[in-house]
Amino acid sequence: MNVSELKDNMFDAIGKEWMLVTAGTPERFNLMTASWGGIGVLWGRPVAFVFIRPERYTYGFVEQGDTLTLSFLGAEHKQVHGICGSKSGRDTDKVAEAGLHPLVTEQGNVTYEEARLVLECRKLYADAIDPACFTDPSLVSRWYGAHGGFHKMYVVEIINVWTK
Ligand SMILES: Cc1cc2nc3c(=O)[nH]c(=O)nc-3n(C[C@H](O)[C@H](O)[C@H](O)COP(=O)(O)O)c2cc1C
Repeated sequence: MNVSELKDNMFDAIGKEWMLVTAGTPERFNLMTASWGGIGVLWGRPVAFVFIRPERYTYGFVEQGDTLTLSFLGAEHKQVHGICGSKSGRDTDKVAEAGLHPLVTEQGNVTYEEARLVLECRKLYADAIDPACFTDPSLVSRWYGAHGGFHKMYVVEIINVWTK
């Protein structure tokens, strides 16, 4: 389907329902919960924005590849995010523990049978959040330091959309 046909309120989908960011190959991938990001238009393309702290295991997979998927599971799979948002793929098989069933897209990206909405994306631009660039510096102490490293922002083109 086309992005223009999307009926979702993406504020709620990203911020309240949450999403799984998955990157890597069918043989070797990782996934994590994310609730920060956005959807929009940039450089004449439909895009999503995701923000990933460098300490996440997922970060290396996103860095290495050209693509990623954003999978929205619906409220009935909220417990999946309890696992994928707190445990690391470094030492946990999150797919098995969360009971997810991976699906491989035609382009070789991984999503899940459980997903109600999938955005398949291709990286366009990435840059680390720079503490010097905050026009509201209170956000730095609120969200960084003890909370973790500065996110890297990825602008990704939405190349395919599927809904159930
Ligand atoms: C609701 C929720 C939202 C999250 N959103 C993000 C996010 O947007 N960016 C991020 O870097 N980490 C986010 N996290 C944290 C990661 O999901 C978490 O650290 C995860 O265990 C990383 O797994 P990994 O080490 O296998 O990559 C979120 C966690 C939760 C519970």
